[in-house]
Amino acid sequence: MSTLTIYLNGQYMPLEEAKISVLDRGFIFGDGVYEVIPVYSRRAFRLGEHLQRLQHSLDGIRLANPHSVAEWTQIIDELIARNETDDQYLYLHITRGVARRDHAFPNPPVPPTVFVMSNPLSTPAQLSPGVGAVTAQDNRWLRCDIKAISLLPNVLLRQTAVDAGCAETILIRDNDFLTEGAASNIFVVKNGTLLAPPKDNLMLPGITYDVILEIAAANHIPHEVRKITVAEVFDADELLLTSSTKEVLPITHLDGKPVGTARPGPMFNKIYSLYQEFKRDVMRAK
Ligand code: PDD
Repeated sequence: MSTLTIYLNGQYMPLEEAKISVLDRGFIFGDGVYEVIPVYSRRAFRLGEHLQRLQHSLDGIRLANPHSVAEWTQIIDELIARNETDDQYLYLHITRGVARRDHAFPNPPVPPTVFVMSNPLSTPAQLSPGVGAVTAQDNRWLRCDIKAISLLPNVLLRQTAVDAGCAETILIRDNDFLTEGAASNIFVVKNGTLLAPPKDNLMLPGITYDVILEIAAANHIPHEVRKITVAEVFDADELLLTSSTKEVLPITHLDGKPVGTARPGPMFNKIYSLYQEFKRDVMRAK
């Protein structure tokens, strides 16, 4: 495999040559935020929306944005050009920089660490036969709308799924309602209606989530954004998982039991093909 080119603090270099200090606050405290952006045919998908969410995350941790939208766009375009595959996914990572260990912010502030990496993106060439998921209590903090690099709860929750031979963990808050997946958003389908939990401080406002709801609205697919109870999750006809790297996947088993018919359902098939169409149209229009 050929080496990846990355961007670190103003310079492009082979991944193997990138080095940061052990005192970086990202390393010491997980004090930073990130973004994951899919790239199709060498064009970043929904870049404006991803950069807006990055700004929201930076505001949430009181860290100044080191770059304007134009500067980010230039870095991203350059990195895409310097890497090999046409479809990639970008990982943007900004930390509060390097300082002697102290929980409080460095005063005066130090330059942030800015890291961008691109990896090949492989989206499934055919419809997914479905994946399994498990449920778990959502034990994360109350600012899940910030895309923070401190992901220990998400790491542990996702590993619960892997240990059970599954793809994702569906998170339930207060034994009561659905929030999202450990690394994805979750939709419930019941009686032909697509149900989505509302964007609030308890879930990441997914860029793919927004695309799915736009697609539903544009194609007159019945949909509701509202609180979804744990009972509704277990009683779903279909469950869908969405993220920038997975796009949309059908969850066909939950906690070892079939979801609906245990096969990808009509809502998934429809949304999946509309999503592919949407992607093609958007990329063509650029
Ligand atoms: N994660 N919720 C969580 C907790 C996530 O980590 C992600 C994506 C999403 C979906 O958001 P989007 O559609 O904008 O990708 C929801 C990325 C892919 C990751 O951490 O790798």
